[in-house]
Amino acid sequence: MLEQDLKRAEKITRHTQRNWEESVPFPQPHTDKIVKFATESPSKNGLQYYDLAVVTDNSVKRALYDCTLGYTHNHNANVSINNGRGLEKNSQVLAPLVLVWLNKYKKPDQSDEMVWTDAYHEDFEMLERKGVDSSVQLKEFTSMHVGISSAYANLMAGALGYKTGFCRCLINYYKLAHALGIDQKVELMLGIGEGNEMLKHNVNPDTNFEYGSVIKEPVKIIKI
Ligand SMILES: Cc1cc2nc3c(=O)[nH]c(=O)nc-3n(C[C@H](O)[C@H](O)[C@H](O)COP(=O)(O)O)c2cc1C
Repeated sequence: MLEQDLKRAEKITRHTQRNWEESVPFPQPHTDKIVKFATESPSKNGLQYYDLAVVTDNSVKRALYDCTLGYTHNHNANVSINNGRGLEKNSQVLAPLVLVWLNKYKKPDQSDEMVWTDAYHEDFEMLERKGVDSSVQLKEFTSMHVGISSAYANLMAGALGYKTGFCRCLINYYKLAHALGIDQKVELMLGIGEGNEMLKHNVNPDTNFEYGSVIKEPVKIIKI
């Protein structure tokens, strides 16, 4: 990719898209490119710390959307409802293509306590046999790898000309797992598609709610 293309992809994906052109199905060849790029990103010891759900089914997306209820605080809403959380949901997960990163090693029980999966015990034993101390690795490195993989997905989506929206509105892990029909902890979701040209990028098409930013903090760069 040329530097100009890379800059363009970063610009397209810089802001979270909250509304979508939903009439056209997401092209399969583009899905394949994004998924391949995301899942072949670098990983420590070659382990895969996550699984990736590729969601195009509208009823599943609606179920994910319902799971995000109340996470975005609407200052104008009546906050006495929904335990003070308000009634906003996160419409970035209604995108034509939604990628969901799932923790390979943790699953929620009915009270949202995390339990180790069978894959955790299998990988733990496999690494032990190879003489690798995996105690910290398997417990703590999933978020890091989800970050790397999702950044790759985001950039490839941008390079193909799509808008994107990250979502980590994760309140009820058990309900989210149930919505997907997968017994694992959801770590991150990413909506990908063309934006609805009639709306600003940060407007929920169902409610017209305009999402804001809490802060735009510059990164401190330390030259050593
Ligand atoms: C990793 C990640 C997770 C995010 N999770 C959420 C989320 O759970 N809910 C939400 O409303 N926005 C989420 N966002 C979007 C940011 O909050 C949003 O980009 C920021 O407020 C700036 O707004 P803008 O993108 O409209 O400029 C997430 C962004 C990133 C990169």
